[in-house]
Amino acid sequence: MSNDLTTDVPQLTLVHGDAPLAPLSSERSTVVHVVGARPNFVKMAPVVAALRERGAFNQVLVHTGQHYDRRMSDEILADLDFPEPDHFLAVGSGAHGEQTAKVLSAFERVLVDTQPTFVVVAGDVNSTLACALAASKLGIPIAHVESGLRSFDWTMPEEINRVLTDRLSDLLFTHSPEGLENLKAEGVEESRVHYVGNTMIDSLRRCERRARERQLAVQLGVEPGSYILVTLHRPSNVDHPSRLSGIVGGLVALAADAPIVFPIHPRTRARLAEDGSLARLEAAGVHCIEPVGYLDFLSLQADAGAVVTDSGGVQEETSALGVPCYTFRTNTERPITISHGTNTLLGDDPAELAGVRISSWDPTPSAISLWDGHAADRLADVLVTNYALCAAPAVQEQR
Ligand code: UD1
Ligand code: UDP
Repeated sequence: MSNDLTTDVPQLTLVHGDAPLAPLSSERSTVVHVVGARPNFVKMAPVVAALRERGAFNQVLVHTGQHYDRRMSDEILADLDFPEPDHFLAVGSGAHGEQTAKVLSAFERVLVDTQPTFVVVAGDVNSTLACALAASKLGIPIAHVESGLRSFDWTMPEEINRVLTDRLSDLLFTHSPEGLENLKAEGVEESRVHYVGNTMIDSLRRCERRARERQLAVQLGVEPGSYILVTLHRPSNVDHPSRLSGIVGGLVALAADAPIVFPIHPRTRARLAEDGSLARLEAAGVHCIEPVGYLDFLSLQADAGAVVTDSGGVQEETSALGVPCYTFRTNTERPITISHGTNTLLGDDPAELAGVRISSWDPTPSAISLWDGHAADRLADVLVTNYALCAAPAVQEQR
């Protein structure tokens, strides 16, 4: 990445730090993009690509390292042709406060070194909030991809991250109409909100053909259209042994009627291994596999007869693919997937898993407005309009 240096641009300075100050490019404004966890990669890959096409910015990529296993990070990034990150913060796992604080502190140093004009964050993970907080304290404008989602459930760590990130952001990019309503209700000026569509579906459309060719289900020995794909990782479902045991019982019962493929998130695998639940699932014939790469997972979704999940992104991808999704939660921040007709809220009673039905094999493409594969182009145009040719903000030392 080129960095034509100049001295006449205001510099950021770290209040108590000792990081050297880095001059800015004189030719183009600099944007710092943040990714940290699996869904971030999928949401941000099209944004980075669309901005690269436009050539308006120096792009600096920061991977916080919230997700770090090969299967949770490298494989997904490779499938998405995500460029090599410029900075890897290696924060790893930890309690919420510890993880958020590590990202906040490490990212602050990157900002001081990089002197960006603005920062782009995506979604609702701890890395999203931590980086938004670091940028806002330095007076650097923030653009938030996937803004305005609300579950109205403050027991979810993601809801806290979403609301606070939106509060700190200057440009708020929504992917469905209710995003604007949610933000207006919180007092956000409408002029800062841009309904651009769903960048996660951009990635899906870009990768769909290659994903379908993989036929992972066939490789696993299950017939396309006949199986149930399961993903679970919400703390509310997997961190309480009695609740998890109930869910395992529900899956074991379902497995008597249909093959189940279960790529298991590391949080969930650790919990399942603790009390013998993993062995129980395997004894029932459930295909308990490691998390798979993005193309393989799209392949599994596209060929599934039904999906049971508590994932946010999977609710959206099944809507785009026209595959029935059963969301094992009491609420969703993605109500459009329900009104669209592909998603059913099962609630949190494991007995409800008995209601999961394999659909007839007739997938239908998404008709959700602006989930059309071009969201990142619209988003990039807004960024160019707002930040190309801008100098980095002048920042004074503050205590
Ligand atoms: C995080 C996000 C969640 C998102 C999910 C996507 C927060 C608060 N949560 O949840 O919103 O839906 O990512 O998958 O940001 N682990 C590994 N290897 C890894 C990553 C995690 O073993 O590469 C294990 C560790 O034991 C870790 C646990 O998984 O403690 C949880 O990881 P963490 O990133 O804290 O939360 P997720 O449950 O992944
Ligand atoms: N995904 C993947 N491999 C898997 C499971 C999920 O590549 O084994 C992808 C999935 O296609 C989607 C994203 O990960 O793009 C969703 O991430 P996750 O469910 O971890 O987080 P959430 O969307 O709930 O925040």
